[in-house]
Amino acid sequence: MNSAYIKGLGYYVPEQVVTNDDLSKIIETSDEWITERTGIKERRFAVKGKDTTTSMGVEAAKVAIERAGIDKDEIDFIIFATLSPDYYFPGPGVLVQRDLGLKTVGALDVRNQCSGFVYAISVADQYIRSGMYKNILVIGSELHSQGLDMTTRGRSVSVIFGDGAGAAIVSKSEDENRKILSTHLHSEGAHAEELALIAPGMGKRWVTDILKDNDPNDESYLPHMNGQFVFKNAVVRFSEVIKEGLAYNGLTSSDIDMLVPHQANLRIAQFIQSKFGLSDDQVYNNIMHYGNTTAASIPIALTEAWEKGKVNAGDLVVLAAFGSGFTWGSVIMKF
Ligand code: UT7
Repeated sequence: MNSAYIKGLGYYVPEQVVTNDDLSKIIETSDEWITERTGIKERRFAVKGKDTTTSMGVEAAKVAIERAGIDKDEIDFIIFATLSPDYYFPGPGVLVQRDLGLKTVGALDVRNQCSGFVYAISVADQYIRSGMYKNILVIGSELHSQGLDMTTRGRSVSVIFGDGAGAAIVSKSEDENRKILSTHLHSEGAHAEELALIAPGMGKRWVTDILKDNDPNDESYLPHMNGQFVFKNAVVRFSEVIKEGLAYNGLTSSDIDMLVPHQANLRIAQFIQSKFGLSDDQVYNNIMHYGNTTAASIPIALTEAWEKGKVNAGDLVVLAAFGSGFTWGSVIMKF
């Protein structure tokens, strides 16, 4: 049986830093509120005319390809996870194929929000295991800043999110000590509307309705989050899916060298850390600097952890995510 591992990692964040104090100048909020509830101190916002979801993904990909030591023509497949695509359709996968000048390889777009990167890694793992592909470019990228309600009305959502991209080259492994051991995916659509952006969509609110009504109070095209409900579900599902992954491999939390949780809220990560009895060295967080970057948060954090020497070849690394859908999942790997 073939196995897959992460051969190269990269990330890109826009140069524009937006602090909590910057936000408190335009909406009724404070550094104290944001820090206490979420741990976030600053985030990056895309520079208009320069950064797009695709362009950030491409920049992250260039770094990952170089670090993997492969030629771009060796990439067999693209998987792109985002909730903030450049276009309604086509998805950004094909734009990456074009902008990186790749061969006419397949491009798959993943729509699993905060769990997008975990889902994408799971798909890449299966293609490599089956022997179909050898090198897969996996990207998570988000441009949230242009879709947030930057008035006091939207503050419970808008202070949390930031822009950025991360990328991984997932390749066939030749080393028993470096491989993805298992991935575990879940969904519960009963709560789809608890964290959602409803319009424009073909379900409840058609584009024609929005244009016809031209209603400045229409909130259907703004992201909506039932924060406390999402928080309560997140802590339960994060715990379950990490436990599931460890048990599947006959491991316990003491075997974890590094847990990289989706950066949704520092309080959620701290809850998981204490629940599994992990030390500060066993959990990597960077939400303080970037906010919640949804599908990009895990690859940015994993890349940073690797760059700082906190994740090394052969380490037992756990990735875990929870978010809109609801969807959640984990990846257990020997990095
Ligand atoms: O990545 C996908 C998964 N997402 C998550 O896991 C997010 C999970 N949820 C959360 O992280 C938290 O629920 C939030 C950080 C979003 C919100 O924290 P909270 O403790 O649940 O606050 P809340 O929404 O219950 O609001 C508490 C108060 C309200 O005022 P009143 O009604 O008590 O007077 C809000 O109006 O805080 C107010 N508030 C704010 N105040 C200052 C809400 N947003 C802000 C703000 N600044 N930005």
